[in-house]
Amino acid sequence: MSSDAYDPGSEGAKMAMAGAMSYGDYLDLDTLLDQQNPLSGAHDELLFIIQHHTSELWMKLILHEMQAAREALIARDLPPMFKMLARVSRIFEQLNNQWDILRTMTPSDYTTFREVLGPSSGFQSYQYRLIEYVLGNRNPNLLKPHAHVPEVHAKLARELERPSLYDEAVRFLFETLDGHDRDIPAPQLNHPHQAVEAIQERWAAVYRDVRAHWTLYELAEKLVDLEDYFRRWRFNHVTTVERVIGFKRGTGGTSGVTYLRKMLDVELFPELWHLRGEL
Ligand code: HEM
Repeated sequence: MSSDAYDPGSEGAKMAMAGAMSYGDYLDLDTLLDQQNPLSGAHDELLFIIQHHTSELWMKLILHEMQAAREALIARDLPPMFKMLARVSRIFEQLNNQWDILRTMTPSDYTTFREVLGPSSGFQSYQYRLIEYVLGNRNPNLLKPHAHVPEVHAKLARELERPSLYDEAVRFLFETLDGHDRDIPAPQLNHPHQAVEAIQERWAAVYRDVRAHWTLYELAEKLVDLEDYFRRWRFNHVTTVERVIGFKRGTGGTSGVTYLRKMLDVELFPELWHLRGEL
């Protein structure tokens, strides 16, 4: 059969893939694309599933980057750490843009399949909870929905036992400004990070003379940037939720929008925000 159609094979594109590792092989695409299984016949359920699956994939990368960033910080290898944190902020930006797609689903569309979700909810996303725990927002009560999956529960519980990314940043701050082993605040292990005056004083000193403390200044701004994008995620989520279910209770059993609005008050790195008012 002859055709005038352009043949990329004529300039070297590999067209015979039998026996070679293809795109689909490398990415294990059959497995990936086999995982979107709507439980209803509703048109919009596939969008809902894909939105969650892609979010979980990006969360997987966020965790990969944040955990490596923490190790780099512990090793005082700051430049690669900054690069990883910058990437995490960009991933949040990507997740933030993604809400625009989900917002094309109206309340009427959502009600066509909501009942098949049962009590499942993003509230039970263990990757999301791990992200919060790594950053330092540690509410041990939120381990409970994972009690029935021992490996997941153990993973989350282990994270609560080690210093968060922010604890490590604080240690670096104190070691750089005050020298080693000088009254470094203890890591805040099993609870959400509470603002500490001595930490805020040190960060404020950095912002008062950024030339003298450029690396700490860069670290502080990377953390603020990350929290800024995370806050936008929370805000976009709650706004989308209000748009789709109003003030109905969530499938996970919380008050829904009222619960999520409370989460908007969370401060991951409170001292970094509070010092701004005193400069
Ligand atoms: C129409 C779409 C959505 C609705 C109506 C919705 C609704 C809710 C509600 C009501 C909650 C509070 C917990 C509960 O009682 O269920 C919640 C929590 C949550 N949702 Fe969504 N959600 C939607 C989309 C998404 C998407 C796409 C993600 C991405 C993974 C997501 C991730 C989460 C997470 C991580 C939480 C826990 C937040 C926290 O505890 O701070 N949600 N969602």
